[in-house]
Amino acid sequence: MEIKELRVNGQRLRQSLERMATIGATPAGGVHRLALSDEDKEARDLFIRWLKDLELDVTIDEMGNIFGRRGGRNNDLSPVMSGSHMDSQPSGGRFDGILGVMGTLEVLRTLHENQVMTERPIVIADWTNEEGSRFSPAMVGSGVWAGALERNWAYSRTDRNGNRFEDELIRIGYKGPAPCEKWPVHCYYEYHIEQGPILEREQKVIGAPKGIVCLHWYDVYLEGEANQVGPTPMEGRHDALCAAAEMILKVNELPERMGGNLVSTVGEIQSYPNSRNIIPDKVHFTVDIRSWDDDQAMSAWKLLREDFEAIASRRGCPIKMEETWKVEHSPFDEKLVQRILNIADQLSYSNLYMVSGAGHDASYMNQVCPTAMIFVPSIGGRSHVEVENTNWEDCEAGANTLLHAIIGSAQES
Ligand code: GLV
Ligand code: MN
Ligand code: MN
Repeated sequence: MEIKELRVNGQRLRQSLERMATIGATPAGGVHRLALSDEDKEARDLFIRWLKDLELDVTIDEMGNIFGRRGGRNNDLSPVMSGSHMDSQPSGGRFDGILGVMGTLEVLRTLHENQVMTERPIVIADWTNEEGSRFSPAMVGSGVWAGALERNWAYSRTDRNGNRFEDELIRIGYKGPAPCEKWPVHCYYEYHIEQGPILEREQKVIGAPKGIVCLHWYDVYLEGEANQVGPTPMEGRHDALCAAAEMILKVNELPERMGGNLVSTVGEIQSYPNSRNIIPDKVHFTVDIRSWDDDQAMSAWKLLREDFEAIASRRGCPIKMEETWKVEHSPFDEKLVQRILNIADQLSYSNLYMVSGAGHDASYMNQVCPTAMIFVPSIGGRSHVEVENTNWEDCEAGANTLLHAIIGSAQES
């Protein structure tokens, strides 16, 4: 068979995704597979078994990133890398991240069974803690690997129950022996669901993002004065939750104030002591700001800071703000993006040039080597929720696009 006729096995890809979806399955059809949890370990163990079935050379690094290497004709050449993540949001979907890992695995299985030998080696990657939901920030495995984040800082991050990242990594047996530092990579592909409504609205099957927006994460801590809710008059209260409520609305109004091209969200909040008859005296909440324009995102935060300070002082609630994480916007390699669009054309899949509003390990990989992504539609534009869904035919189309993108790059001398 000619290489250009090669296609993945869509049925097998579906079976791999369905099997992975049983690990951490939730009653409403989603998955709960937080980074470094028992479920994450179970998915990793299964993944490694599947890599070994293909006789790949498996490496685990000290951040728990898993790599499987398939040799090429010339093993002195840097490999083509493709992958994503297997961790999920607390009540996440069965496609986010895992599609890119299982999609790459399906590409490797297809090459294996057709005995296709490429010029360059190919490496499949599962990056640790992409979601940043249990341990913030996101994309830490790829971030440390790329040299953008410090390993020891990542190790010291804690979850809501005070568990340290490194301790959890050791507990699940995935603090590997290999140093977590970048090595030469020819190019990186990441296959993912869109997680938004554009492809479906435009009735396109394949998306090729020109890049990823910037992601800025902040943590806000407020203090108030706790007291009995009944006898304490409304005047003179220092209610930390009311201060937070005003601030949260400022976050929601921010994009309109900035003239668009920006999204800003408060997704997480903790209020203490969290009792219906005590005035809250401690609140923590998060702020997430994203834009293609880094300067605009920075100006937005400056404005927000000023608002927060004014609200905090008016309500007599001392405030502490932490700038937890920043990733600049990532414009992908234009030639690779064009290659994705051309391959989609050749395979007769309708396609669209777009932008990624979601963060991906591809952001950090873009700092290391030429990078591009392949998107497929999210039904109803829903993601990070249990009903997250993508048609099986679209999953197969994305994997075929990935197959030919990987082959094209791996044949380059
Ligand atoms: C990653 O899932 C993000 O976009 O927050
Ligand atoms: Mn993802
Ligand atoms: Mn996600």
